[in-house]
Amino acid sequence: MNAFESIKNKLLEAKKIVFVTGAGISQESGIPTFRGNDGLWRNYDAMKLATIDAFYENPKLVWEWYNDRRKNIFQAKPNDGHLAIAELENFVDVTVLTQNIDGLHQKAGSKRVLELHGSIIKIKCTVCDFKTEIADEILEVPPKCTCGNILRPDVVWFGEALNQELWQNAMILANQCDLMVIAGTSLVVSPANTLPIYAKQNNAFLIEVNPEDTEMSSQMDLTIKNTSAISLPQLVSIYKKL
Ligand code: APR
Repeated sequence: MNAFESIKNKLLEAKKIVFVTGAGISQESGIPTFRGNDGLWRNYDAMKLATIDAFYENPKLVWEWYNDRRKNIFQAKPNDGHLAIAELENFVDVTVLTQNIDGLHQKAGSKRVLELHGSIIKIKCTVCDFKTEIADEILEVPPKCTCGNILRPDVVWFGEALNQELWQNAMILANQCDLMVIAGTSLVVSPANTLPIYAKQNNAFLIEVNPEDTEMSSQMDLTIKNTSAISLPQLVSIYKKL
């Protein structure tokens, strides 16, 4: 049974679809989530690894953790959920606002992806404005910049602000869409968890795809209690039947 059959007309009327995704959409690619049962935070204390203070206290430990995550991510392949979102671009205007840093949406073929929390391959200097992309293992940890200071992952840590221009764009896109699909996120981290509110201000239809309840499930117009790799291809099949 296609879970989206009941809202077929709503889907076909949509002009601008925005996806808000989180770690859950990459779970079926073998990348652990943060807070789910297999969550990363079960083995590591998030506050000891994903904060600027933790980094300066022990840059080597944080880099070793990121090297682990990089290895896992570089072996991961986009799953049917990522591929469905990319395929949907053939039928309608799609933008992906992702909290993930694994680059799997882009690997699946999605053209318009805003990486709200940065990217695992992007590295920047802690002092000067040097930035680069490194898509293989970092041997010397912590790596050094040519200016002599240490380099850090170019990701958003707890307590850090998002790139303001990127966030402005994300808010505008959320406020202009008529359909928002929130897939694989617990919606506990701000400001990403305000995006459904911006969509609702524009009377967008909100769909949540998540095997578990989230804090915002009750505010959704439709909740699909299933995984993204199973559900999102069903969403696309509504368009493919045309
Ligand atoms: N399909 C869909 N959803 C899934 C799947 C799946 N196969 N597996 C797990 N989920 C759901 C979980 O039920 C949970 O609600 O994905 C969500 C993952 O939540 P989190 O682990 O909190 O990840 P996320 O919401 O992306 O975290 C946001 O917090 O740790 C920071 O910066 C980090 O970007 C991250 C942010």
